[in-house]
Amino acid sequence: MAKLATDRWTRKHLLGLEDTTADEILAVLDTANEFFPCCTGRRPAPRLLEGRTILNLFCEDSTRTRTSFTFAGERLGARVYQFHAATSSLKKNESLADTVRNIDAMGLDAIVIRHPQRGAPQRVAEYVGCSVLSAGDDAYEHPTQALLDMLAVRRKTGRFEGLTLALVGDVQHSRVARSNLFGWSKFGNRVVFVGPQVFTHDLDVEVEVTEDFDAVLPECDVIMMLRVQFERHEHLAFDIDDYIRDYQLTPARLAKAKPGALVLHPGPINRGIELVNEVADGPQSLILYQATCGVAVRMAALSLCIAALDAERQSG
Ligand code: NCD
Repeated sequence: MAKLATDRWTRKHLLGLEDTTADEILAVLDTANEFFPCCTGRRPAPRLLEGRTILNLFCEDSTRTRTSFTFAGERLGARVYQFHAATSSLKKNESLADTVRNIDAMGLDAIVIRHPQRGAPQRVAEYVGCSVLSAGDDAYEHPTQALLDMLAVRRKTGRFEGLTLALVGDVQHSRVARSNLFGWSKFGNRVVFVGPQVFTHDLDVEVEVTEDFDAVLPECDVIMMLRVQFERHEHLAFDIDDYIRDYQLTPARLAKAKPGALVLHPGPINRGIELVNEVADGPQSLILYQATCGVAVRMAALSLCIAALDAERQSG
């Protein structure tokens, strides 16, 4: 029977990692480890969320995050409903507050929300009584992505402190980079944002930054490549060929990192831009392992948040 770390995680929401403590992060990762064998198809999952209703409210495109939250909820026995913003009354100018309040009134245990506005998950958490889990808001936070990245590295290396991580590319537009920075920094790791000035000049977080990928590579245990967020640029003020020359992860560049350095990417990959196929599909790549870890982390996050919700409902 999977052991939930409910003694260390007592919040009904998961909205970001900036305000999450190291002990709470470990509670999620330890619980995710319990669920990991259920994510490889080797063991059936415990039906901890039988009879529960979860709403996947995605107002931005998604493949991995939506699918993975769906698998996580359903493997635990919950019904997961897919809300399609494009065919909803949001199109008739209904406010997000009215939308979520009405659905919560139908009887809901959790809302998983992805939204193009910064802070939307926090606002939704104020409108409803059920649990709210962020699946990414604007370029702000994507907590379950960082947690799954942490789980993947921790499981593969057995290490969680004293690592140097390079987060490379469009860091300014990356909620993945921000959440990873918040998460890894709490455990005495060094996080370096790497990219051309156009991607780093307007950061609103305190972080070590360099333009020189090749110089930092020999110190790296983990290299996380980030997608160039073409949709978040009005016009791209840089030359893609220069970018590829200076930042693309090739086998030659990877050879400069610490031996056995791990390569991560949250997906979707722009193959041939941020990395080449040999690296994406090579032995140091954790990209598919990240997807597996994602289901385990979301099983943990859903079950812990809903356990906290139950405690609140019982005491109220
Ligand atoms: C990321 C996202 O949507 O924030 N993808 C993901 O959730 N796996 C990163 C991206 O879109 O580049």
